[in-house]
Amino acid sequence: MTTEVQPLRRILVAQPVFEEVLERLRAHFDVVDNQSGQVWSGPAWVQRLQGFDGVMCFGVEPINAEVLAQCPGLRICANMTVGYNNFDVPAMTTAGVLATNAPDVLTETTADFGFALLLATARRVCEGERFLRDGRWERWRYDMLAGADVHGTTLGIVGMGRIGQAIARRAALGFGMRVIYHNRSRLAPAVEQGLGAQWLGLGELLAQADHVMLVVPYSAQTHHLIGAAELAHMKPTATLVNIARGGVVDDAALAEALVHRRIAAAGLDVFEGEPAVHPALLAAPNAVLTPHIASASIPTRRAMAELAADNLIAYFSRGEARTPLNIEVLSKFRSL
Ligand code: DGY
Repeated sequence: MTTEVQPLRRILVAQPVFEEVLERLRAHFDVVDNQSGQVWSGPAWVQRLQGFDGVMCFGVEPINAEVLAQCPGLRICANMTVGYNNFDVPAMTTAGVLATNAPDVLTETTADFGFALLLATARRVCEGERFLRDGRWERWRYDMLAGADVHGTTLGIVGMGRIGQAIARRAALGFGMRVIYHNRSRLAPAVEQGLGAQWLGLGELLAQADHVMLVVPYSAQTHHLIGAAELAHMKPTATLVNIARGGVVDDAALAEALVHRRIAAAGLDVFEGEPAVHPALLAAPNAVLTPHIASASIPTRRAMAELAADNLIAYFSRGEARTPLNIEVLSKFRSL
């Protein structure tokens, strides 16, 4: 009797990643890495992807019907990010391609960063640093770089998933804040009670909050969720923090509101069309701007990459995945 030797599956790792994660993948697959950080877009991306059985993505590589039609051998796309707006999941399901993301492992780290950005923005930390480094600090003054308090104020959280809830816990337990939230579906009363959080409509939340933190996923429904009209609902002393996704905020409208001090300040980790940033935001002293680093602690980034690798390995060795987005593809796999 002859045993058929299966050829090694071919995996593309689309961006640089931890060497030890690559090593783990190499023990299972024929891996092509991109440690030099080449950027492929449009037809070059499709060409690069052709001939692979699986790909590790990083939240930005488009996987849609057009790409899939040209990559018929592709079976799984594993994002190392929790956000997956680079995936057209229905198109992937139709093509029988598994989509996975990396939830949970980044929740607490991202919530920490939300707070870092809130504190830096409300308390004008980056303005203060620029002021000092520019040699403008001459003496102590009662109103020098005086900002807003965070403790004891009202925090409005828009998007109350895992990260929103981790932020709510920090706000209530660590900073004695009143927490109000807006979410498509309201949390169960026991969860609300545990968090000490009150659900409000978006307009009411914007009007009541001293600080607003955005944590919603990006979708057609959340595109420009915060635009000129919503900013006009906010208190003129309020801060807005966006750790969700670029496109959830209308950046041009926000820049206008910051320049005219319709709100006090904004802390932004994500931008429409990033890595490009609206020039008026770059020029606004009352904006704290960071380059999409909310989950960027070394242990968390490692855990995210390991989870994506787990998904690739589990899929090709057992027809399973730890964090599937279209589980129906797995049941099809099993019935093959
Ligand atoms: C995610 O995981 O979606 C983050 O935005 C990337 O850090």
